[in-house]
Amino acid sequence: MHSKKYFIANWKMNGLKKDLNQILKVENFLKKKVNPASLNCIFCLPYTILGLAVAILKLSKIKVGSQDLSSEPFDFGAFTGQISSKMLKDLNCKYTIIGHSEKRSFGDSDQEINIKINMAVKNNLKVILCVGENLNEYKNKNSFTKVKRQLYYALNKNRKHLNNIIIAYEPIWSIGTGVIPNNNYLNSFFYKIKKYLNNEFKFNALLLYGGSVSSKNIKDLKKLNLCDGFLIGGASLKSKNFIDIIKNYYN
Ligand code: PGA
Repeated sequence: MHSKKYFIANWKMNGLKKDLNQILKVENFLKKKVNPASLNCIFCLPYTILGLAVAILKLSKIKVGSQDLSSEPFDFGAFTGQISSKMLKDLNCKYTIIGHSEKRSFGDSDQEINIKINMAVKNNLKVILCVGENLNEYKNKNSFTKVKRQLYYALNKNRKHLNNIIIAYEPIWSIGTGVIPNNNYLNSFFYKIKKYLNNEFKFNALLLYGGSVSSKNIKDLKKLNLCDGFLIGGASLKSKNFIDIIKNYYN
């Protein structure tokens, strides 16, 4: 386990300029209450407010990330509607989510995820790589087979860049549902992932949990001894909920 915990917000298709105020409230809280050495706080925002967020948070310890990027293996080109990692870097964006299940469900293939990771790390963006199984796969005890496959295809051609990749395990059936796996399950699943990454890639990965994280369940999730932090969707939209998660984690 790594000592500095990650609290990563994923705003998905939410957030107008005025909502950046929520992040400033988190910033104020962190400044006053939290030892800066103890956590990494990152907000993954829609493209439309990334530039503004970077400007507003220039002096903050909160870092800004995107939720995706183009799978074209180019910095620029005739790809209408696409945003490249070069453009994100130019904004001073530090992180990007890749392979979120909501993107995979709209067709992101393993091959595209591979290219996205490659392009992101080329431009010095840190990658939050999401993996996870759906409910059927979970019920049929195929969770690990699925996650292992996703990890293999994402990482195999990116072996030189592993230090810039953080893994987020997000069971799809837990995202936005309020249902989370119990700690026994998660502990043993995290152990399997860590062991696989060590054996296959000699990779001592940072490993996050995502899926319905809230101020209510964080005290239980805190007990996961192989968990390096959390990817938080719904509960990251309002500063109070997000701050309560951090408060409850540390108190
Ligand atoms: P949730 O989303 O916290 O709303 O379940 C997590 C995610 O999709 O990253």
